[in-house]
Amino acid sequence: MQLGEIEKVKKEKIVFPRGFLWGASTSSHQVEGGMNNDWSDWEESNANGLAEEAKIKWSQWQKVNFPEMLKADNYISGRACDHYNRFSEDFEIARKLGHNAHSFSIEWSRIEKEEGVFDKREIEHYRMVLEDLKKRNIRPFVTLWHFTNPLWLRDLGGVECKKFPFYFSRYAKFVVEELGDLVDFWITFNEPNIYTANVYVNGKWLFGKKDIMSAIRVFKNFAKAHNLTYDEIHSIRKGTNVGLANNILYFEPYYKKSPFDIVGAKILSHIVNREILNMTKGKHDFLAIQYYFHRLVNFPRGVMEGHGIASDMGWEIFPKGIYHVLKSMSKYKLPIYITENGLADSDDSRREQFIKNHLYWVHRAVKEGVDVKGYLHWSLLDNLELDKGYWPRFGLVEVDRDTLERKVRPSALRYAKICKDNGFEMEIRE
Ligand code: BGC
Repeated sequence: MQLGEIEKVKKEKIVFPRGFLWGASTSSHQVEGGMNNDWSDWEESNANGLAEEAKIKWSQWQKVNFPEMLKADNYISGRACDHYNRFSEDFEIARKLGHNAHSFSIEWSRIEKEEGVFDKREIEHYRMVLEDLKKRNIRPFVTLWHFTNPLWLRDLGGVECKKFPFYFSRYAKFVVEELGDLVDFWITFNEPNIYTANVYVNGKWLFGKKDIMSAIRVFKNFAKAHNLTYDEIHSIRKGTNVGLANNILYFEPYYKKSPFDIVGAKILSHIVNREILNMTKGKHDFLAIQYYFHRLVNFPRGVMEGHGIASDMGWEIFPKGIYHVLKSMSKYKLPIYITENGLADSDDSRREQFIKNHLYWVHRAVKEGVDVKGYLHWSLLDNLELDKGYWPRFGLVEVDRDTLERKVRPSALRYAKICKDNGFEMEIRE
């Protein structure tokens, strides 16, 4: 816009298809508290190292605004949000916010603390969780594995263990037999691509291997375990929906006309986004898509992050990427649910616009025929952001770290209106 020109504001009505699901997501390790799994074990021995690393990893602005990142206890999940005990209170907040769907994960290390011994009391706990959601007319998406393993499995090699597909499907079978009557959407694995990259390729998480052969074995194990479990779940409960949640990145050629950049972006998108989906072809009733990242691909410079408005963690905010991701995923011809999309925004200055801008592009994809059936924001609560600990605040609902008191953020109220109205009016500035 030139100086002196008058800015035009156009209003566009964004209406989503009838029956669209709205809500938010969490994962057991990040919110429940009281964990005893491979991740909590790792936290205990690595918290000091992570706090030390933060000194060089983050900018001055981040260190000043989130000084807790320099302390070891920021990295220990501990009581987390105590969601294990407060789920009812949290679901009541979600209900009041107009959510009609919720995604959470079941903690394997609770259900099968010792190999082959299944804990019925923990099943009863998750039954209460599911009944609580049902009572509030909130439909659950249940993930069976969100990055954590029981300690006995860790000792056998974790996901890399040869018998992993057997162990996982046996656990899944038990859970689905016990709880299947209350669940319409099962997600076997959360983001096998991100886990494999962070544990086995760049070695950032857990024991941190950098071994490409291990990464390949792990990827194959995820696929095998998913395929086995898909059949298992369907033999227990016909008509249920089974999927796998993948983090889909938008890889964009840096120079739109450079054949190298175009091919580079295609290859990366194939390996990172689609490989696991191709290895599990025919074993999905829906796609669970999680979108956070946009990457620019250039030869010979490599893969770069774009600049512009960023979250507290410095992650670029690039809403149009979700449109490209959805368009590219539509080739699988399956219903799509967005099961994660969100940002760390402690002062809540960007979240409302983040949600609206992403939804604008989701809607654009829907208008062009992509079968998107739901949007679940990450996250319902401020929680343990994995190896970054508690300083990044992803919640629609703020959680006070000392008192654990919940406070609904203003953006959550704006999102609530969208959920209730099944759409919103978008202001487009020209
Ligand atoms: C993961 C979550 C994580 C979120 C934000 C997703 O990739 O599934 O566990 O908290 O990203 O980083």
